[in-house]
Amino acid sequence: MEHINVGIIGGTKGMGHWFAGLLRKEGCTVHVCGRKTKLQINDLARLCNVVVVAVPISATAEIIKQVGPLLAKNALLMDLTSLKKEPVKLMLKNSRAEVIGCHPLFGPQLKDVTRQNVILCTARGKKWQPWLKEVFKNNKLTVLESTPEKHDKMMAIVQALNHFNTITLGLALAKTNIPLAEISKFSTPIFRTKLEIIKKIFTESPELYIDIIMGNLEMGKVLDIYEKELKDIRQTIESGGGTKLKEAIEKAAKKLF
Ligand SMILES: NC(=O)c1ccc[n+]([C@@H]2O[C@H](COP(=O)([O-])OP(=O)(O)OC[C@H]3O[C@@H](n4cnc5c(N)ncnc54)[C@H](OP(=O)(O)O)[C@@H]3O)[C@@H](O)[C@H]2O)c1
Repeated sequence: MEHINVGIIGGTKGMGHWFAGLLRKEGCTVHVCGRKTKLQINDLARLCNVVVVAVPISATAEIIKQVGPLLAKNALLMDLTSLKKEPVKLMLKNSRAEVIGCHPLFGPQLKDVTRQNVILCTARGKKWQPWLKEVFKNNKLTVLESTPEKHDKMMAIVQALNHFNTITLGLALAKTNIPLAEISKFSTPIFRTKLEIIKKIFTESPELYIDIIMGNLEMGKVLDIYEKELKDIRQTIESGGGTKLKEAIEKAAKKLF
């Protein structure tokens, strides 16, 4: 295979920066750009046979439309977006290049990525997919091929519902108007773990989590289930139905574990 020059749009920080490090380790030449870098999108398209879109979800569509038409048929256009249906559709529509949607299921702060999951949605071409799989496998990541539709359906649960639940808990905690210092004096290990998760979402980059929830078209269905569960559990508790709740938990445990 020819020498691989990779251009990462959004490679100055976050997930794009993490991917740049991984690819350099694999012997690729990596160029990155952000909004203020000297190299810009046109330069990356000219210099590279692989172009990666790793910008915030809200900017992804615009960047794909900009870079897609600049790439040759034998190049690879891929992304790292946390949603796959819309970006993959746009990459196919706006370029002739091979297209792979990619979603590493962890954040750029994670020090050891061994056995973490990466989802690939190979959408056009056969040339680049074996190379990309090899890159991840060399770094002990677990690669799974999926369709963009299935990916987004699963992310409605693993990310959107999960983060929705955390945001709800954090907002409810704030509404109690009891200072955290006071709550902490009474805290348990499980509560402190949950608080750490709330802190991460509320203080690191809330916009990423909001985009993950709001951009997932499957979210409505999942929220309907969640809302109904909340109402049912409350009703059961208020009507003194401890046994009914225990039965419901046991039935769910059998299904889940
Ligand atoms: N963070 C995670 O945990 C995580 C995990 C998996 C996947 N992802 C996905 O990775 C992508 C990036 O997320 P992130 O958390 O890494 O974001 P981030 O930390 O905010 O980094 C975004 C990058 O994009 C650049 N950028 C922003 N707007 C741009 C624009 N209009 N044109 C060109 N470059 C632009 C930024 O550089 P400048 O600010 O210098 O312009 C920066 O390099 C998203 O699609 C997200 O869904 C994130």
